[in-house]
Amino acid sequence: MIEFITIARVRAWSRAQRTAGRRVALVPTMGYLHAGHLRLVEEARGRADDVVLSIFVNPLQFAPTEDLDRYPRDLPRDRTLAREHGVTCLFLPTVAEMYGTPAVVRVVPGALGEHLCGPFRPGHFEGVLTVVAKLFHVVEPDVALFGRKDAQQARMIERMVADLDFPLRVVVTPTVREPDGLAMSSRNAYLSAVERATAANIPAALDRGHRRFVAGQRNGTALTTGIRRELADAGLAVEYVEAVDPDLLVPRADLTSDTLLAVAARVGHTRLIDNIVLGAGLGGDVTVAV
Ligand code: PAJ
Repeated sequence: MIEFITIARVRAWSRAQRTAGRRVALVPTMGYLHAGHLRLVEEARGRADDVVLSIFVNPLQFAPTEDLDRYPRDLPRDRTLAREHGVTCLFLPTVAEMYGTPAVVRVVPGALGEHLCGPFRPGHFEGVLTVVAKLFHVVEPDVALFGRKDAQQARMIERMVADLDFPLRVVVTPTVREPDGLAMSSRNAYLSAVERATAANIPAALDRGHRRFVAGQRNGTALTTGIRRELADAGLAVEYVEAVDPDLLVPRADLTSDTLLAVAARVGHTRLIDNIVLGAGLGGDVTVAV
């Protein structure tokens, strides 16, 4: 496994690989790797000869009030996990390398940012799309992989690539969950034991929502209002529960089997997000072994 810190060197290496006929995959992350990230790496290995894993805690996507300073980091552990899982290149840029000249021009998500997390995290998705666009130009991969756990982010990146003609393929992979259903997230490290138990109510409520849909519930407002109440009763501070069109991410009054049911809620100080596709439920996701 080779490591680079500078844009010039990782780009030269990636170009050389592709000139030699090798396919290059990119898995962008903010590190503190878990089974969700490693699932992306595994998928990448099946689609390319080289897997570039980037680790960069992107300041542009954090609001001043958010957790940039305490975002969990463990580079030695990440390095070992990456090597063990077949990553061939680690890209570890510094903030100065990525934003030596502060970004003035940014990529905006347009209408895809109007619902779900958009209103609760102003500027967040501009920060995400801008850094992902930069990483695409830096690494020039044939394929890039993202998790459905962050469904709104993944959809925006798909549209950015389509709308702005980036010459690469985006692959979105299923959410990886803990045995009790909690979606894996670097931020789960913030949870106390009691908070961790409370957090498990999120996938449980999504699962019940899915069951109600299967049993015939087709009213979007009735479904989301019920889930919101259940989560509040379980002690979570709900930001939103929305049932949206999976392409345009706008709320749906009448539910169909491809509807994205998405939640954001706080447990203590920790903000968690999760989602399912109504026709598939948690069964569409992957659960890690204990
Ligand atoms: P990060 O939260 O580190 O996630 C990196 C990638 O892993 C994202 O594509 C995310 O959707 C995926 N992922 C996280 N948890 C997952 C889970 N439980 N199952 C499946 N995939 C999961 O998302 C970011 O970083 C950043 O916004 C980034 C795209 C790197 C831009 O800075």
